[in-house]
Amino acid sequence: MCFNSLQHICLSQKQWKGLLHGDSDLVFKKPKPPPNLPSVEEIYRVANIVLKEKAPGYRIRRAREEDLGRVMEINRLSLPENYPPYFFHDLWERYKDAFYVAESPEGEVVGYIMCRVERKPGFFRHFMVKSGHIVSIAVMEGHRRRGLGYGLMAYALKGLYESYGCEETYLEVRVTNKPAINLYEKLGYIVVKIAYRYYLDGEDAYVMARPLP
Ligand SMILES: CC(C)(COP(=O)(O)OP(=O)(O)OC[C@H]1O[C@@H](n2cnc3c(N)ncnc32)[C@H](O)[C@@H]1OP(=O)(O)O)[C@@H](O)C(=O)NCCC(=O)NCCS
Repeated sequence: MCFNSLQHICLSQKQWKGLLHGDSDLVFKKPKPPPNLPSVEEIYRVANIVLKEKAPGYRIRRAREEDLGRVMEINRLSLPENYPPYFFHDLWERYKDAFYVAESPEGEVVGYIMCRVERKPGFFRHFMVKSGHIVSIAVMEGHRRRGLGYGLMAYALKGLYESYGCEETYLEVRVTNKPAINLYEKLGYIVVKIAYRYYLDGEDAYVMARPLP
């Protein structure tokens, strides 16, 4: 773009000064990650301690192809956002290191998390980044509040960072879904934007994100 056409972009004097001096923060404000952002390693360490204490006998493991039927069932029972079978299969095929299930002491799958890796403009950085999209997570009622949701997130974040080199992670959550919002805040996610009428029933979503690791 030549300077003549740039002039027509409405920027304040301060923003123009920032642009001329190469200080892009003055031009395009980016959110700041929260102070004391827990690292992926720290989250993973804490998750395993909490699971030992609050969910003895449960384990979090990589999803296998034969788990996908049960994952779809948990998805249908726990969330209004459901997807066709090929969608689950595709995410499992492509992002196995960020697709986990939680298994009860009886060997029943009671929770899952599935993700996708996307190249998109960064929420925290001024360029394209590899972002780990948390597509869906759920834990069956009766198995909640034992640290399984936190644990599933911890394992997925580790996979997104270590196996796929993601520099950020983001997700959408209903603005009324307080349990999930609390969970994500505990993991260092902050609200970076509101997606109005994001859901089919018209409810808004918070888009929440955090840098990795
Ligand atoms: C959100 C969900 C996955 C959490 O799973 P979980 O196994 O119960 O979560 P954890 O036990 O690991 O909880 C971790 C933190 O999340 C928050 N949290 C979880 N459930 C909560 C609740 N009912 N009320 C308030 N905060 C809650 C708390 O901060 C909790 O930490 P704490 O136990 O130290 O207070 C589960 O509630 C669920 O499956 N909900 C339905 C599906 C869904 O909404 N998915 C998210 C879509 S965006």
